[in-house]
Amino acid sequence: MNESFPRLTNRFRIPYAYEVCFGRDAFATGNPLLADEVAQVFANNLPVPTVAFLDDGLAVAQPGLAARISAYAAARAGVFALRGAPVVLPGGEAAKDGMGVCLHAVEAMRQAGICRQSCVLAIGGGAFQDTVGLAAALFHRGVRVVRLPSTVLSQNDSGVGVKNGVNLDGVKNLLGTFAPPALVVNDLGLLATVSDRDWVAGTAEAFKVALIRDADFAAWLAAHAAAIPRREDATMAELVVRCAALHVQHIAGGNDPFEHGSARPLDFGHWAAHKLESLSGFALRHGEAVAVGIALDLCHAARLGFIEPAEAARFIAALHRAGLPVWSDWLLAETNGKRVVLAGIEEFREHLGGTLHITFPCPVGSKREIEELTDEDVQTAIGDLDRHRRNLEIVP
Ligand SMILES: NC(=O)c1ccc[n+]([C@@H]2O[C@H](COP(=O)([O-])OP(=O)(O)OC[C@H]3O[C@@H](n4cnc5c(N)ncnc54)[C@H](O)[C@@H]3O)[C@@H](O)[C@H]2O)c1
Ligand SMILES: [Zn+2]
Repeated sequence: MNESFPRLTNRFRIPYAYEVCFGRDAFATGNPLLADEVAQVFANNLPVPTVAFLDDGLAVAQPGLAARISAYAAARAGVFALRGAPVVLPGGEAAKDGMGVCLHAVEAMRQAGICRQSCVLAIGGGAFQDTVGLAAALFHRGVRVVRLPSTVLSQNDSGVGVKNGVNLDGVKNLLGTFAPPALVVNDLGLLATVSDRDWVAGTAEAFKVALIRDADFAAWLAAHAAAIPRREDATMAELVVRCAALHVQHIAGGNDPFEHGSARPLDFGHWAAHKLESLSGFALRHGEAVAVGIALDLCHAARLGFIEPAEAARFIAALHRAGLPVWSDWLLAETNGKRVVLAGIEEFREHLGGTLHITFPCPVGSKREIEELTDEDVQTAIGDLDRHRRNLEIVP
């Protein structure tokens, strides 16, 4: 009965490093950027067997793109062994509705005969990246992905990060993995055809990260907000690069890239955003919901004394000038006399793993987390936000 058993410790470290590059016209035959970077990443297995996935929204908006991808790979046959024509799959939030599109991508990888030493090229928006990224993470327990994000949000936020995922039963990102990409190439030329709505919506993530991490960038955004809906290329290029850099810094320097802790320090404005997105049946874009969530939590931050009320008003007005919504009638939706958005706090708590951490600017450019937000606090902030938006004369 005096048996004794050893305890085995299995400890190892896996260093991760990937480049996030910026450029224009990555598939122009004369542009070496993508091929040179891919050659570095897959140096041990060139030409690398590659399957390219293309977001259908992007494929429709840029009809010559699939052929240009094939021509680019053919012109660099020492780097790419492209298996067939680019596979066009649905993009947009519908792609994340359950595992359907994800499993189509898995099937395409199988038919292309790629293996764990191969390369998946994912060219598309944030939802497409999340879906194809999950498929690649699952296929053979993980195939490396080279991302070419094609929307503002995916270039400045999701595409440079380490997460993927799909929705299940209307719950955002219920299935997903942490899987750092092998390489990210942000081709700013791809943004030319993004709809006006997505062009603007993607900039909400820049306001989010600036308000809690970079006061200079926040001031720059307030000063340049009106240029955003005018689709000024230079403004967008600077916004994307600065925002992506802050996200990269956060992942590399935040000490918790795979979010084992219960804090989600970049998720300013997101507890309400996730709820508003699903309440609207995803009629609200993620970025639009984030803008409303930021506006609401700026009101909270002012009530908490973390920022001056005038600062809250200044940035709510800047969001508005940028063309972003700062209000959604879903904030007022009730069941049994209770605001439905309040359930967002509980869902956020569950998502974080039990302890609530809600991040606010304190002051602008720095952050502070709190662990409780009462129903009353939320009602008050909604009332404050209602007054702000009336001042902005959003209400007809
Ligand atoms: N993984 C993460 O860390 C993370 C972070 C933030 C957001 N997200 C997710 O990203 C998604 C939102 O991504 P999004 O804002 O890029 O929107 P999206 O992916 O839904 O794309 C919007 C629309 O634009 C189309 N499209 C893509 N590129 C285009 C182009 N260049 N020209 C014309 N049309 C184009 C798409 O087909 C789609 O119809 C959400 O699902 C959100 O949850 C993920
Ligand atoms: Zn977000």
